[in-house]
Amino acid sequence: MKYGLIADPHANYEALSVAVSHLIEQEVHEFLCMGDIVGYNASPVQVIELLQEVGAVCINGNHDRYLLGQPPEEVGPEKVYVVEWTRRQLGDVEMDFLRALPTQREHAEGILMVHGSPQDMDEYLLTKEAIQKAVRYLGQNHPATQVCFFGHSHIPMIIGEGRIEMNFQETRTVRLNRMRSYLINVGSVGQPRDKCRKTSFGIFDSEAYTISIIRLDYDVEAERARIIEAGIDRRLANRLLHGV
Ligand SMILES: [Fe+2]
Repeated sequence: MKYGLIADPHANYEALSVAVSHLIEQEVHEFLCMGDIVGYNASPVQVIELLQEVGAVCINGNHDRYLLGQPPEEVGPEKVYVVEWTRRQLGDVEMDFLRALPTQREHAEGILMVHGSPQDMDEYLLTKEAIQKAVRYLGQNHPATQVCFFGHSHIPMIIGEGRIEMNFQETRTVRLNRMRSYLINVGSVGQPRDKCRKTSFGIFDSEAYTISIIRLDYDVEAERARIIEAGIDRRLANRLLHGV
């Protein structure tokens, strides 16, 4: 099976449409989305429609839960504006779609889908301590999991075999070991933060046992124009230029 992996699309239709077209060309059998479907960018309806069109198996992220009425403890004014603007765009169909999503999901072939980390949906797997804790938690609580896909940090990363592999600013395929388990973030489709503006997504091939993290250019200016037209904070539009 070839799985098309999408995390943190964040209402960026220009980026998601490039990622989905590529994944269709590569003949993936199924799309998995690790949450944060909305927030930050300005195409929430188109992004939900495209995920529905390809039948993506989705979980929710903190931005989706915020939209549904579960705000985080601290929230900046720019995020308040985006969530209120997004609510005005979505109809019942889109709201129902988001409401139906679980916060994590055990999928076929030993795949676990989470947004933040296996033990905490809002945790960022960025520090060595958090990562070590997550590896231990996964081993103890999800022994059948072979590959746990996560998002939230927007930084592509492969954790496994006692090391953390980063630096995926160009497309790269990594062979995995079937005897080991992994935590993998394929980066963010809609708001990359590894100082590379290219959209970031992935393919997990469960037969070849490889993971590809794919980086492609997309029309950043078109998405920026939508953000600015929507009255969303320009800083969110400008982040897309620099991948931060
Ligand atoms: Fe996110």
